[in-house]
Amino acid sequence: MATGTANVDSPQSLTSRLLGRVALVTGGSAGIGESIVLLFHKHGAKVCIADLQDDQGQRLVETLGGSSDAAFIHCDVTSEDDVKRAVDFTVDKFGTLDIMVNNAGVSGSPCPDIRNFELSDFEKVFDVNVRGAFIGMKHAARIMIPAKKGSIISVASVSSALGGIGPHAYTGSKHAVLGLTKNVAAELGKHGIRVNCVSPYAVATGLALAHLPEELRTEDTWAGFRSFVASNANLQGLELTAEDVANAVVFLASDEARYVSGVNLMVDGGFTSTNHALQVFR
Ligand SMILES: NC(=O)c1ccc[n+]([C@@H]2O[C@H](COP(=O)([O-])OP(=O)(O)OC[C@H]3O[C@@H](n4cnc5c(N)ncnc54)[C@H](O)[C@@H]3O)[C@@H](O)[C@H]2O)c1
Repeated sequence: MATGTANVDSPQSLTSRLLGRVALVTGGSAGIGESIVLLFHKHGAKVCIADLQDDQGQRLVETLGGSSDAAFIHCDVTSEDDVKRAVDFTVDKFGTLDIMVNNAGVSGSPCPDIRNFELSDFEKVFDVNVRGAFIGMKHAARIMIPAKKGSIISVASVSSALGGIGPHAYTGSKHAVLGLTKNVAAELGKHGIRVNCVSPYAVATGLALAHLPEELRTEDTWAGFRSFVASNANLQGLELTAEDVANAVVFLASDEARYVSGVNLMVDGGFTSTNHALQVFR
């Protein structure tokens, strides 16, 4: 094929877009991370899950047919030792690291009055969302630079682009994830490594109602969340799912995105590029 000619995918390559690749997904035991793990596996990748939730992570590995192409390692992304161990474990088990997904994240408690904002909560959110993502980038780069290839993808949020839709620490942290994405893309481009992030609108995962105790997360509460999210969405008639986000991550991880770097891929149905407050169209 001539240089610059588009590669036309066969039907098989459309379902095996990550065949033979090795991926590490932080926060892969539940929610969006779990969907990323499942979809990566479906596309032929070997996947290591790094999470605090051991039982859920182990169960997911079993769902994927055991340890030949999936693995779990306990990892707190705020700990450099843990992330280093998770990266080394992945390389030891599967031979390399092609794709690093920094997905683990927390929302922190809602606090509508800055005067009452607990700095311990602020620090916890930045520790997981920013420090965690940065450590992931750093240790992925350790493996990817000598290999002269790789794709690093972090899960940011619509809160990376807009204020007023999350707690201060969450919004600040997701803007920081975007800043790190651009800066690390600037450094690693010369090594052939792509660095991107995806920014979803609201998805009905544990994080969405994390501020509520388990017993208050009733069917009615979930229905209320879904209807609130739907009524404020730009794209109508569809509910954003974790798999929609995973599809965007697969795209960024695959060769289809081989020249895409430094990008914040919004998976938000146009939420951050539209504003219906003036009701021009509604
Ligand atoms: N759900 C949403 O509406 C939404 C929207 C935009 C962005 N996001 C982002 O998507 C990512 C995933 O969120 P989710 O909705 O799937 O949440 P979730 O709570 O369902 O899952 C998060 C996973 O991360 C793990 N985790 C949390 N802290 C960790 C740590 N210190 N070390 C390792 N693992 C840790 C949890 O155990 C859990 O398995 C987060 O970065 C979040 O900010 C979520």
